[in-house]
Amino acid sequence: MKITVVGAGAVGASCAEYIAIKNFASEVVILDIKEGYAEGKAMDLMQTASLNGFDTKITGSTNDYAKTANSDIAVITSGVPRKPGMTREELIGINAGIVKDVSSNLVKHSPDVTLIVVSNPMDTMTYLAHQTLHLPKHKIIGMGGALDSARFKYRLAEALECPASDVDGLVIGGHSDTGMLPLTRLATRNSVRVTEFLSEDRLDQVKEDTKVGGATLTKLLGTSAWYAPGAAVSAIVQAIACDQKKMFPCSTLLDGEYGLKDLCIGVPVIIGKNGIEKIVELDLNDAEKAKLQESAEGVKKTNGLL
Ligand code: LAC
Repeated sequence: MKITVVGAGAVGASCAEYIAIKNFASEVVILDIKEGYAEGKAMDLMQTASLNGFDTKITGSTNDYAKTANSDIAVITSGVPRKPGMTREELIGINAGIVKDVSSNLVKHSPDVTLIVVSNPMDTMTYLAHQTLHLPKHKIIGMGGALDSARFKYRLAEALECPASDVDGLVIGGHSDTGMLPLTRLATRNSVRVTEFLSEDRLDQVKEDTKVGGATLTKLLGTSAWYAPGAAVSAIVQAIACDQKKMFPCSTLLDGEYGLKDLCIGVPVIIGKNGIEKIVELDLNDAEKAKLQESAEGVKKTNGLL
């Protein structure tokens, strides 16, 4: 199993690190445009192999896509991250060109690759990858909901004063501060709905904290986060590599599901060796349907800037 990670920045490196530590891939190639940078990150990570006990071979490449040839899975993290106060949507001008270029180069050398798009604005970049490549739609996956759901579970665990492993929940909709839809109605603590434990006000707070999860970290760190994004990507990569049939909310091209068409937005999907193997249609209530519709309008507006 060969995996390419494009972008040796914080998200790309942390993603490569988690993939290696989980020890399910034979090879990870990190590629970056900055001379020697990916090679450096790869060497540094390889020097942890004996300490962390993994056998994955990690190599780096300065923009030489021949080294990525025949990758099974590729992750696109390239582009500029947001700075404090910026929205993900503001990155479109620079990142659209980069994602177009990177995705075309990847597919040229790995025609059967399954792509995971992380670059922001993520839903629009996933849509752009579809428009550029015309790959079968199950082969392009946008990483957003998996990360947002992990942040939702963190906030739920904080409110419930319990470990995150006790909590389950998912976030659908666009990967943006206003577009996310944390589904508090369906979230549970060990199968018991969290609405049994938390007041409506407290749940509203959880929802708001989740939606600005990325912005909160950007403010604290001065740039966008990397550990949780890297971990979320590596979980999706593992689900494909190990054919796990795991369910994550991911950005996928919709064709009538949820009453939406011709856009990529976060909904629950089953991930296995073929990428997105199934779109799960939840029975949303009217308020949730309206919110998802509103979120879709936001994503379409951003797509209109392409
Ligand atoms: C975040 C970026 C990866 O939410 O979009 O941290």
